[in-house]
Amino acid sequence: MSHIQDRNVIITGASSGIGAALARVCSVAGAKVALTARRADRLAAVARDLPGPTLVIPADVTSPQGRRDIARRTLETWGHVDVLVNNAGLGAYGPFLETGPEKWRTLFEVNVFAAVFLTQEVLPSMLARGRGTLVNLASIGGLAAHSDSVTAYVASKHALVGFSRGLARDLAGTGVRVKAACPHLTDTEFFEAGVGAELMRGEVERFRSFMDSPEAVARGIIDRLDDDEVIFFPTEKPARAWAGLRDV
Ligand SMILES: NC(=O)c1ccc[n+]([C@@H]2O[C@H](COP(=O)([O-])OP(=O)(O)OC[C@H]3O[C@@H](n4cnc5c(N)ncnc54)[C@H](OP(=O)(O)O)[C@@H]3O)[C@@H](O)[C@H]2O)c1
Repeated sequence: MSHIQDRNVIITGASSGIGAALARVCSVAGAKVALTARRADRLAAVARDLPGPTLVIPADVTSPQGRRDIARRTLETWGHVDVLVNNAGLGAYGPFLETGPEKWRTLFEVNVFAAVFLTQEVLPSMLARGRGTLVNLASIGGLAAHSDSVTAYVASKHALVGFSRGLARDLAGTGVRVKAACPHLTDTEFFEAGVGAELMRGEVERFRSFMDSPEAVARGIIDRLDDDEVIFFPTEKPARAWAGLRDV
């Protein structure tokens, strides 16, 4: 995992779950990490436990100003960005006809447009250096309809996977790599934080024993940072689940 050493890494959604675990894995391996999310207190708590240099940038990734601040502060402080991890994301639960325009738009703002437009803030500096890695936190739900009553989530993650594939093709030969990580059930706050999360209360416990830990997912992502595959599974569990889901 030492290839992350001395790299400058921006991680969105770093206040909890997979983003906080990514921050720890990167920092312990010798990277500088810029942590961003809305909850400043939670970001500060994550940063306090990291051994290496950190930047804490409280921001809402759905805000253009927030995205500009994340890119500007990191570039002004460290000069360049080696890795951007678009990890911030929301779940969404509920029957399709009860998932109105506001919920769909909220979901696409966080899960799709934030990643697209933060990438537009950071990519020019990577292209100027001829190197960099963009990692989008998709999901097995970006490749298949993995569960019932999560149509909006599945649609948003398919969009993120499509964005990753299209951009990877456009950036071929530039030195900038694009990757889409596809975890499945991971034991984080995700199931309490999403749109319609009250519908999941009690449900989550049934799945808890199948879940990956956020640390395992984070290690799996960092291990695969430098290979050429765009779409990848960070652990064995989603890779196995995919075998049964690929036709769904
Ligand atoms: N957990 C799973 O089972 C699972 C499976 C497959 C894929 N994923 C994906 O993995 C990624 C991380 O999820 P997680 O499981 O670690 O969930 P989590 O613990 O709920 O973390 C989500 C993160 O996103 C941030 N966030 C949400 N809305 C934001 C906004 N508008 N602006 C800035 N930050 C925002 C949250 O921070 P603040 O609230 O502080 O802003 C939080 O740090 C997501 O993209 C998710 O779709 C998760």
